[in-house]
Amino acid sequence: MNASNLTVILFCALIQLIQAAYDPTWDSLDKRPLPRWYDDAKFGIFIHWGVFSVPSFGTEWFWNEWKGNNKPFVDFMKTNYPDRFTYQDFAKEFSAEFYDPNQWADIFAKSGAKYVVLTSKHHEGYTLWPSKYSYSWNAVDVGPGRNVLGDLATAVRAKNLTFGVYHSLYEWYNPIYASDKASQWKSREFVDNKILPEMKELVEAYHPSIVWSDGDWEAPDTYWKSTEFLAWLYNDSPVKDYVVVNDRWGKGTNCQHGDIYTCSDRYNPGTLQPHKWENAMTIDKASWGFRRNANIADYCSAIELLTQLVSTVSCGGNLLMNVGPTKEGTIAPIFQERLAEVGEWLAINGEAIYGSRPWTAQNDTMTYGVWYTKKDTTVYAISLHWTWDGSDGFMELASARDLFEKNPHTAVYMLGNESDGPLSWSLTDKSVKIKFPDMAIVKSRWAYTLKIVPMA
Ligand SMILES: *[C@@H]1O[C@H](CO)[C@@H](O)[C@H](O)[C@H]1NC(C)=O
Ligand SMILES: *[C@@H]1O[C@H](CO)[C@@H](O)[C@H](O)[C@H]1NC(C)=O
Ligand SMILES: *[C@@H]1O[C@H](CO)[C@@H](O)[C@H](O)[C@H]1NC(C)=O
Repeated sequence: MNASNLTVILFCALIQLIQAAYDPTWDSLDKRPLPRWYDDAKFGIFIHWGVFSVPSFGTEWFWNEWKGNNKPFVDFMKTNYPDRFTYQDFAKEFSAEFYDPNQWADIFAKSGAKYVVLTSKHHEGYTLWPSKYSYSWNAVDVGPGRNVLGDLATAVRAKNLTFGVYHSLYEWYNPIYASDKASQWKSREFVDNKILPEMKELVEAYHPSIVWSDGDWEAPDTYWKSTEFLAWLYNDSPVKDYVVVNDRWGKGTNCQHGDIYTCSDRYNPGTLQPHKWENAMTIDKASWGFRRNANIADYCSAIELLTQLVSTVSCGGNLLMNVGPTKEGTIAPIFQERLAEVGEWLAINGEAIYGSRPWTAQNDTMTYGVWYTKKDTTVYAISLHWTWDGSDGFMELASARDLFEKNPHTAVYMLGNESDGPLSWSLTDKSVKIKFPDMAIVKSRWAYTLKIVPMA
């Protein structure tokens, strides 16, 4: 090696070093490439668990509804609890006696999810790990009496799933937060002495692959020192090479900054998005936390969940599907069933989901409820219904017509039944008509994937 080669090598190394450093500005942070694992994963499980799982009435916003004098919540307390009962008193009943993180991890793995995001701390401020910044208001000091977050991280990773954390910046009734708020965010006691140390502790102790921030919206990102935190996370933290963060880092940052855009809850725009995004939605349509007062109609059906998954992935998003465990630490059988159903579908049709990318068209322009994805030159058309009555067993697709017209050797199979050979097809003026097999001998339920392979 001569001296000039060495100079080039050193120069390149220096450039890499400089490039690896992100400034604490959105301009710089927004240039970070999305870690690939996230875009390949497509499907994750969200878990809302905390002291709110004890009243498990109405919503995980229970404390706020009660203190905000929302009548059903005030009445619930008047009827069922003594006058002097406080929200903090609920923590003693957060028993988690049936909590088996290995069983949870098993349920999540069988759902086909690739990652799990747990509420490390919701707006109530209670931490699911023994944070030294949340003295007496954490899962070891009161309630479960164990590190429920650490135990879940271990169990989830043992199943080869990726572990991430949700974290709320604001805490409804934290007096230090209230005092910063009263100063119109000029004072930053809460951020400097609570939030930043707590988030660093969380990242350093548990190495989450996702930091899913929330509760940001009252104050600007400059109050939260969000860009400073993210520069640390991207440059110096133990998770810098693979961590993914969402977009809720201060008033007005959602849908603007971060690795993935979550925009609003249950965001599902239905069209291809230019930036990676996530649809955070719930199996219980009305609540993130478990509700004892939920009814069967409140839960999404398998086809409703698959509709969310398929339309989301087709438009470039990931689906983060929420379950609310009980205070005892169980995942109610209705959630288990829905997760198993999605898992059953993904075991057959996962090829069209995992590692896929959006295709030229998203939903078919002729037949309602058919969504496309692609992998290399293979295109997948996922139909959220069987063929219509009167269609003689044909599925008619307009958006995919060109693939067949340009190449008469194009073959189309149904996933789960590929080994039965290709399906017959013919062109019309506006579409390709694909003959579906006999439904009775088709493996997939609820939704059906056509695998379109251009043959040389
Ligand atoms: C673990 O997950 C990764 C990413 O999804 C995958 O590539 C790998 O094959 C999995 N390993 C096992 C043992 O399942
Ligand atoms: C395609 O999806 C969009 C957005 O969800 C919807 O407005 C449109 O009606 C769909 N088109 C067809 C033909 O289903
Ligand atoms: C489709 O798959 C099912 C389940 O594996 C199988 O029983 C059936 O014979 C396959 N063939 C056809 C033509 O659907």
